[in-house]
Amino acid sequence: MATIFSGIQPSGTITLGNYLGALQHFVGFQEDNHCYFCVVNQHAITVPQDPVQLKKNSRSLAAMYLAVGIDPEKSTLFIQSEVPAHTKMGWVLQCVAYIGELERMTQFKDKSKGKEAVSAGLLTYPPLMAADILLYGTELVPVGDDQKQHIELTRDLAERFNNKYREIFTIPEPRIPKVGARIMSLVDPTKKMSKSDANVNAFISILDDEAVITKKIKRATTDSDGVVKYDKENKPGISNLLTIYSLCSGESIHELEKKYEGKGYGDFKEGTASAVVSRLKPIQERYYNLIESDELDQILDHGAEKANRVANKMLNKAERAMGLARKRV
Ligand code: TYM
Repeated sequence: MATIFSGIQPSGTITLGNYLGALQHFVGFQEDNHCYFCVVNQHAITVPQDPVQLKKNSRSLAAMYLAVGIDPEKSTLFIQSEVPAHTKMGWVLQCVAYIGELERMTQFKDKSKGKEAVSAGLLTYPPLMAADILLYGTELVPVGDDQKQHIELTRDLAERFNNKYREIFTIPEPRIPKVGARIMSLVDPTKKMSKSDANVNAFISILDDEAVITKKIKRATTDSDGVVKYDKENKPGISNLLTIYSLCSGESIHELEKKYEGKGYGDFKEGTASAVVSRLKPIQERYYNLIESDELDQILDHGAEKANRVANKMLNKAERAMGLARKRV
């Protein structure tokens, strides 16, 4: 029995990358663990968001967690801004973090590159993420490869706090899948697939319909040698599609290479699209049933209540250790 925490930003419709690298793995943890899954809307506002769209995306992401199989009877599902302990602990951890280590974060460098107006929140995002994780005594954090650096920082901040004040925080470990931890862009397969990509052809949204999925995969950048073979260095486009196909169909990459031996990329891309559509269709059906239901609000209210209870206890411990709290809660 371990405590698990993970979060996803509601900064757009979530992608096949989010699903294959993170979301699909959350479901399996629920049986024997204490799981917390969060819609991290306060992380999303570190870059400009349209308020109406952000509200819509947050609700949509909550429905998506349920549609892929998160069971509110087993897991706590909630929205970050409804649990104020996150930003309070985020402040505590900002005071433990050093500016230099925050400036070295790849995500900060990528998202601030070439921009004139960069929010302070973009720099202090990792201590907020550390707060998300540490508030629940989390042991395992299932994420894609791009979040590894943030979890390493979380570990450093937790250890620094524990050494300086008192042993309060559990040191969490990332849980990164062996295959699919970095699904690549369909347009530029040397770049990560990202929901904030300006080119919608670069990613598959988990809500894209069959025609759109097929079109995007058919247009995906490949190479010109016409051989379906996994070779990440020399054939990044085909390797990415093989990974997607394999994860969606359950067939191994080796089996797929054999299946498409002597066939062209056209057939292979058709097969990939059909595997993705079959995988996403039942999720989409459940999603559309949930999105308008009152049940969703009840689940989120209940999740926030439970998360507040647990998080406030840890916040109080940390604040007492630092000399901030006058009374116990
Ligand atoms: P976010 O919202 O960018 O992504 C959510 C999850 O999806 C994974 N992911 C991918 N996996 C494989 N291939 C891809 N192309 C791909 N793109 C995204 C991410 O690794 C992530 O697991 N900082 C986090 C959100 C966060 C969080 C947390 C995560 C806030 N607090 C606490 C875990 C624990 C983020 O921006 O994820």
